[in-house]
Amino acid sequence: MKRFISACCIVWLSLACTVKAQVQSNQEAWKAAEGQLRFLVEQTAQGRKLTTDKSKLMPRCVEKDGSLRLVGIGDWCSGFFAGELWQMWQHTQEDFWRELAVSNTWKLEDLKWNDSSHDLGFMVYNSFGKAYELTGERSYRDVVIQAAKTLATRFDANVGCIRSWTWGTPERWQFAVIIDNMMNLELLFQASLLTGDQRFYDMAVSHANQTLKNHFRDDFSSYHVVDYNPADGSVIKRITHQGIADESVWSRGQAWGLYGFTMCYRYTKDVRYLQQAQRIARFFFTQNDLPADLIPYWDMRDPAIATKPAEVPRDASAAAIFASGLYELATYVGEAEAQHYREIADGILQALTAHYQPAPETAQGFLLLHSTGNYPANDEIDVPIIYADYYYLEALNRQDMLTK
Ligand code: GLY
Repeated sequence: MKRFISACCIVWLSLACTVKAQVQSNQEAWKAAEGQLRFLVEQTAQGRKLTTDKSKLMPRCVEKDGSLRLVGIGDWCSGFFAGELWQMWQHTQEDFWRELAVSNTWKLEDLKWNDSSHDLGFMVYNSFGKAYELTGERSYRDVVIQAAKTLATRFDANVGCIRSWTWGTPERWQFAVIIDNMMNLELLFQASLLTGDQRFYDMAVSHANQTLKNHFRDDFSSYHVVDYNPADGSVIKRITHQGIADESVWSRGQAWGLYGFTMCYRYTKDVRYLQQAQRIARFFFTQNDLPADLIPYWDMRDPAIATKPAEVPRDASAAAIFASGLYELATYVGEAEAQHYREIADGILQALTAHYQPAPETAQGFLLLHSTGNYPANDEIDVPIIYADYYYLEALNRQDMLTK
């Protein structure tokens, strides 16, 4: 009996030490992020003054030459800056961050009419959606609902999906749907809850079901692009656009899938979505080539991993998306499995905080180095990118919530 009690004490003590270490590392991460984000705000204001193109409002990435890339509101990354400011306000509750979040959110309002992008979810949900979640103010809710109505115009009943890229049609594809598009379903699910309009929910479910059916290989890795025949909804081909090859494992795509199906489970409680997220997690985090620090190569099938791994770019953004998604996934499963997901997510955050942060007031104020946006297009390779920072802060907030 005595032995049993001392064994329990040892387990309890080691758990308490782990939680303490996590809390400390989480606090250090927030402290560094706050200073950097202030610098990003300053650099963005400076960049806006210097540019002759006054439509360029939002920071997107650091260019190879070290300069700041600003984009207009129509860019798919335009909502992440406001989203980051809301994430920072959620943590600090300081007026400074709230005021910046509010002003940068309203710069995006016209997006609610933008029917040319499937990425309205990224652009409007991470800004106005987050604003509504945190403040409950009706004005944000109205923009979310109008944006969902606009996004719904891209839904095709034959295919059962929202059309992703219109560009490239019909030379490259007839009706492209990319795995990334799972992320935009949150806007539709939320609009359905806010309005009681079942149509948004049905479209989101239909898109998720088609993706479940057509986007995955037997091992639960995901294709990047599925091209559908709009006449009858059949699959024409499965290809990549941002990965190294059609049959490869583009890391961010796998992260969008895990996060996306976990989020779909939140709204539907359809156990098939939960299982899909679990299977993606199992597939990805048992890859032999996964680096020890859990920050994946940009594509896990880049042949150079075998010969010169140190030269293969990583993708910190994929890692941050995985971490955030895994914290949510951990809330839907049994304790042993939840602990496993939390350990991976904690490990990712620890690595990002310890080894992927730039020195203070460098890298234009971005929080994380080493993301890869579009390797085949030779764009945004091994640089800081805004969505890595957004999901890093979201993951830190989720970690906060789980340790409180
Ligand atoms: N289209 C979003 C991404 O590059 O992941």
